[in-house]
Amino acid sequence: MKVLWFISYCAYLLGLLGRICAMSHSIGQSQFLSDGESLVSEGGTFELGFFSPGSSTHRYLGIWYKNIPVRTVVWVANRKTPIKDRTGVFLINSTGSIVVTSRTSGVIWSTNSFKDAKAPVLQLLDSGNLILRDEKGSNSDVYLWQSFDYPSDTLLPGMKLGWDLRTGLSRQLSSWRNSDDPAPGELSNGIELHEFPEAVVWKGSRKYFRGGPWNGERFSGAPDLKVNPIYDYSFISNKDEVYYTYQLKNKSVFSRLILNDTASSRQRYVWVEASLAWMLYSSVPHDYCDTYGLCGANTVCVITDSPMCQCLDGFKPKSPDSWNSMDWSEGCILSKPFSCQNKEVFVKFSELKLPDTTKSWVSDTMNLQECREACFKNCSCMAYSNSDIRGRGSGCVLWFNDLIDIRQVSNGGQGLYIRIEASKQAGRRVVNAVLYSLITVAVLFGLVLFCYYLSRRKTKVRGITGQDEWTREEPKEDLDLPFFDLATMANATDNFSLNNKLGEGGFGPVYKGTLADGQEIAVKRLSKSSGQGLNEFKNEVKLIAKLQHRNLVKLVGSCIDGDEKMLIYEYMANGSLDSFVFDQTRWKQCGWSKFFQIIDGIARGLLYLHQDSRLRIIHRDLKASNVLLDAELNPKISDFGLARTFQGDQCGDSTERVVGTFGYMAPEYALYGLFSVKSDVFSFGLLLLEIISGKKNRCFLHPHNHHGLIEYAWRMWTEGTPLALVDSSLEDSSSMLEISRCIHVSLLCIQQSPDDRPNMSAVVLMLNGESTLPQPKQPGFLRDVIPSEIITTLRSEYDSCTANEITFSSFGAR
Ligand SMILES: *[C@@H]1O[C@H](CO)[C@@H](O)[C@H](O)[C@H]1NC(C)=O
Ligand SMILES: *[C@@H]1O[C@H](CO)[C@@H](O)[C@H](O)[C@H]1NC(C)=O
Ligand SMILES: *[C@@H]1O[C@H](CO)[C@@H](O)[C@H](O)[C@H]1NC(C)=O
Ligand SMILES: *[C@@H]1O[C@H](CO)[C@@H](O)[C@H](O)[C@H]1NC(C)=O
Repeated sequence: MKVLWFISYCAYLLGLLGRICAMSHSIGQSQFLSDGESLVSEGGTFELGFFSPGSSTHRYLGIWYKNIPVRTVVWVANRKTPIKDRTGVFLINSTGSIVVTSRTSGVIWSTNSFKDAKAPVLQLLDSGNLILRDEKGSNSDVYLWQSFDYPSDTLLPGMKLGWDLRTGLSRQLSSWRNSDDPAPGELSNGIELHEFPEAVVWKGSRKYFRGGPWNGERFSGAPDLKVNPIYDYSFISNKDEVYYTYQLKNKSVFSRLILNDTASSRQRYVWVEASLAWMLYSSVPHDYCDTYGLCGANTVCVITDSPMCQCLDGFKPKSPDSWNSMDWSEGCILSKPFSCQNKEVFVKFSELKLPDTTKSWVSDTMNLQECREACFKNCSCMAYSNSDIRGRGSGCVLWFNDLIDIRQVSNGGQGLYIRIEASKQAGRRVVNAVLYSLITVAVLFGLVLFCYYLSRRKTKVRGITGQDEWTREEPKEDLDLPFFDLATMANATDNFSLNNKLGEGGFGPVYKGTLADGQEIAVKRLSKSSGQGLNEFKNEVKLIAKLQHRNLVKLVGSCIDGDEKMLIYEYMANGSLDSFVFDQTRWKQCGWSKFFQIIDGIARGLLYLHQDSRLRIIHRDLKASNVLLDAELNPKISDFGLARTFQGDQCGDSTERVVGTFGYMAPEYALYGLFSVKSDVFSFGLLLLEIISGKKNRCFLHPHNHHGLIEYAWRMWTEGTPLALVDSSLEDSSSMLEISRCIHVSLLCIQQSPDDRPNMSAVVLMLNGESTLPQPKQPGFLRDVIPSEIITTLRSEYDSCTANEITFSSFGAR
């Protein structure tokens, strides 16, 4: 009432000129809004008026946040038809259409006519929705028209993305062409209606990204969204409507979801008042595997693998030549057509983004058993799953013909039952068995217990069928890894001259070399004392050579001559991360994003060693000097597999002789020789702190209170100023959110108790995701747990910290 009174008062004051008053919230039929005036929502959150985007001089009618100093437009009326001058006017014309018109070009944008409305009123709501109501109509609360039904590039809280099936209206987002031009660009986002509807981002007319179908709880391809401090979201699908929507948990926070052509992604931003800037909170596609159909039909994309694309079991590359040259677009085909005479079985694979649902069929009432039977009956049915995973799971989806756009989603994908020829599966089991025994033999000696531990772990994840995770067939042929003779190596390294020496690693000196064909190599000359037999060494080299990942240094050959044993690696142009991170000038030149890429790469390499390679390697000596950088500054972990191989007298999960570098060791490892993947996680956490702070742990003694790096980081964290760790030259606000997330993750990794530390797949998700992180508990301070005689050694290390890394290789277990 007050508002109406206010409006009429203003109107009265303005002499009933038809102009709206400056702070009005609505426009009636006899009023208009001209360029330069604006309409403000009642609570003052949004403002509507004419504006020029970016550096353009064209005028558009749009809605933006009133109180955000960076003009952020959330809706545009005349996206494709700008006004070239400032004569634009916005009004409801006499036949009840909402129009934007200009003196020079006439009507340039309009809606349908609502001529039945007796007293139409346009009102801007605090949600950012511009609505048309009939104030004198029988139901004045009904929106005759609303801008939320015609989104631009922005999805605001409360907006619906998707279908009103009663009217056939499909609400889609479409990106701006660029920051100067709100006309629809390349990307659009909407819901595809099939039996099992799903949200899709298109690039032009091609599918670009899907988050996977909704499973009652979340989207199978985007698990890390579910728990977050900012918003709740839901997907509604019934006979009237199919849509996605979200709500903010705290209404005083600003957050928006946009399609961004420049970044080719759908991004979510959160307004950070303290830095007066929008922070990128999340974005999809998340990584390369998210690209729709990257690997072609009947494949799975595993981001931590190289190559990323693999055929599903029972399938082979459609065109092996292009497949092998990493062109996966043709995908895979059945090795042998199904006989469909009950010769097949269904094998469950978990942690997947479910395939494209275009050719699917769904039933809400069938259970999993009935689902399996239904799939059996139809020869073109390739896979099935629960349509709703809540509780114990319910409903049934069947997929027909090619399975498209499956990827592995660790930590939250969904289980999918895929049809596989029965004989194939039996065969695979044998292959697996043979393979395991081979590995066991090769690895054996003190490792029996360790393997037992691993296989127990495996059974746990693998479930009933024993096939729950992606297992890759090892190449059956021997790897063609060249053996070099000593003379060649001596030649390449100028007789192992000091000039060629790159450094001294844990297992002996490393030399730079050049082969006769010009290839640059790094030669690791292993200390002679390993006492390993020739065949054992060869076996180990083959195993190490099979560990292939873009964040691991590639082995190119080996050399055995007498008691000389050498490993030959690709040469890394930018040396070790050590010299890079701790060199303050380079740190400044590169900028944070490069460093984040390095951190992410190391995490992925370590994840591969821990989880995705067959061998499940614990590195045991991860540190900055063991991470090398190639010409593009891609990080590559080196010395993996060596700890186990060349210092291998460990028994079970504890070891008599602790290898590794003191400053990086997890307390339980340094003190008791207990190692596990979690001791690597500790080293990773510490390395992360070093990268962020640009300071070496071993050399870090705070000038005033003699805190080590860990203690210092922990103190800053508990005092609520974690960013004090960061080199002040880095303080550009846009990286701050990411940096504090990294500090948070590193503190989680260095917690005292190994059980509290996350595993590497969680770390990779945490670094890239947006979920809320748990509070870290107290880190493992070496100082508190280490006996005093060791402290003395540690002190002398601090003193010698400019010298080469010293590796403790004979440090008795207590
Ligand atoms: C109101 O605008 C609509 C849409 O442009 C147009 O068709 C209609 O003729 C206009 N009415 C009047 C009275 O100008
Ligand atoms: C909501 O956010 C505001 C501003 O960030 C904050 O002051 C307030 O405490 C938050 N409210 C709740 C319930 O979290
Ligand atoms: C689109 O993304 C780019 C790169 O991430 C960013 O600089 C730009 O501000 C984004 N555009 C909008 C409208 O947020
Ligand atoms: C198998 O399912 C497909 C897709 O629903 C259907 O078109 C086809 O007729 C079915 N075939 C049989 C033999 O039922």
